[in-house]
Amino acid sequence: MEVVYEGKSKIVYKGETDGTFIIKYKDSATAGNGAKKQEFAGKGAVNAKITKILFELFEQSGIETHYIKTIDETTVLVKKAEIVQVEVIIRNIAAGSFSARYGIPEGKILPFPTVEHSLKSDALNDPLINESHILALELASEKELKEMSEKALKINEIMKDFYKKANLTLVDFKLEFGRFENRIILCDEISPDSCRLWDSKTGQKLDKDIFRRDLGDLMTAYNEVLRRATNV
Ligand code: TMP
Repeated sequence: MEVVYEGKSKIVYKGETDGTFIIKYKDSATAGNGAKKQEFAGKGAVNAKITKILFELFEQSGIETHYIKTIDETTVLVKKAEIVQVEVIIRNIAAGSFSARYGIPEGKILPFPTVEHSLKSDALNDPLINESHILALELASEKELKEMSEKALKINEIMKDFYKKANLTLVDFKLEFGRFENRIILCDEISPDSCRLWDSKTGQKLDKDIFRRDLGDLMTAYNEVLRRATNV
């Protein structure tokens, strides 16, 4: 298959038919923009399964995603979208860079979900970017920005409810959107690599912070998220 793009955790291939890509989830985990890197056998398959469960849930609520079908454990067929070069981050609880940047203790519940954007650029370390800058740099139109924020907040409500049933608290997450036939659709993945998930009762971290902060066995946590998500 012809490689279109290889990222830190995924390889994108040309699909067999026009208008499609094939995405393979890799087992690598990176943190600090690639400064820390490790392989975790089975991570790609677990992330592919969790993403499929969530993307199918969003489709049921009328949020279009790039997902078409699963090819094998680590490979999916998706719509060929043009990725908007802006990441959308939603936060329900202070953590990570938000806590560090503003001096807010991790775990402080925010009065409402916040929407933030960062520029998709490994070379620049994905810097925070505001809406005025996004418009000035023509990374997205005003209409697209509004649509992405609205969809991201709706996804937040769906995912919060879903994970609550799995005894998990959705702290924050990152989304990527793409343009497909003049529509904005959800792309990329949503997995414990791109969300913070805490056990609702104990507060135990069950996401990539385990790897970022050396807190224990990553795959035990990811498999537990998959197990709970499968049983909702
Ligand atoms: P942050 O607190 O490090 O800014 O991360 C916020 C959320 O976004 C967290 O769930 C991890 C996710 N995220 C990614 O998936 N990819 C990224 O490149 C960054 C910076 C964050």
